[in-house]
Amino acid sequence: MIRLDTENLEIGLSEKAREQISSLLFKLLSDEFVTYVKARNYHWNVVGPHFKELHEFFQKIYEELNDEIDEIAERIRTLGIKVPANMKNFLNETNLTETDEFLSDKEMLKSLLTDYESTIRNIREYIPIASQNKDEGTVNFLSGLIEKKEKTAWMIRATIEK
Ligand SMILES: [Fe+2]
Repeated sequence: MIRLDTENLEIGLSEKAREQISSLLFKLLSDEFVTYVKARNYHWNVVGPHFKELHEFFQKIYEELNDEIDEIAERIRTLGIKVPANMKNFLNETNLTETDEFLSDKEMLKSLLTDYESTIRNIREYIPIASQNKDEGTVNFLSGLIEKKEKTAWMIRATIEK
């Protein structure tokens, strides 16, 4: 369990609720960081006849993840919890696994799709927990995020099947 530094807030959410939700949000943040590094790797290392297209596609993905990472971390801060961000904590808390450093273009896409689908399934489990804790702000935030990630997962899937 990650160590949290919690502030006192009077927004109608107990410290326990805010900590439980922030732990889940930190897991999500960790998943997004792992996927972010993969997308960067793939942007740099992709080769082959689809280079230009995939190089740009991977950039689009890491830029999107970059924005999401900031939003997730700031949601944790909004709940009055400091973000325990370091690489060790990210690797401890992520649900995802690292892949080989050097993959083929198809393996790169499959790896991203696996990560996206896994993250989407996790978010789907986090939403009812936020809801049980009456944290409508997080429910709303995660609902928007899941929709966005489902769309990107579709685009990755469509690129693989091309
Ligand atoms: Fe670049």
